[in-house]
Amino acid sequence: MHIHIYPDKILKTKCEPITVINGDVQTLIENMIEIMYKNNGIGLAAPQVGIPSQIIIFDTNKNGLTVVINPSITLNKEEFFSLESCLSIPGFEGKVRRKQVVYLEGTDRYEKPINIEATDLLAACIQHEVEHLQGILLLDRVIRSKKEAYLKKLKKYRKANNNKL
Ligand code: NI
Repeated sequence: MHIHIYPDKILKTKCEPITVINGDVQTLIENMIEIMYKNNGIGLAAPQVGIPSQIIIFDTNKNGLTVVINPSITLNKEEFFSLESCLSIPGFEGKVRRKQVVYLEGTDRYEKPINIEATDLLAACIQHEVEHLQGILLLDRVIRSKKEAYLKKLKKYRKANNNKL
């Protein structure tokens, strides 16, 4: 299992809800946790490791890992600009408008309900990960010139590396 990198099609997939939390799901979660920490990420969604299922994990302050299955969020109106990167878009960083407060619901890996009210960085991280489950990437949310500049850089890089990426 590895991180799938833009423009891998899996990243554009709408993910399916989890109906049964079985051994495969537990293994997937273990792999996601390992991969997120190994890559110094603060959040990861299942499609980023190639599985189109509704699972996200995050740990924005290094002292609390949260695993959420079938997450859904309610957003408030206040917005702020969040500077973000994504393990699936190496070398890219962009500012996006995010809601300042989100209410996150779902279940944990033991089917216990999760209810979290999050603000600021954690709120942004949750919105970012939930959007992955809808096939929406950070690149789709930044201003167009920023995306175009990255695509140009990517093209050049791939050419220099004989399209190996
Ligand atoms: Ni991401």
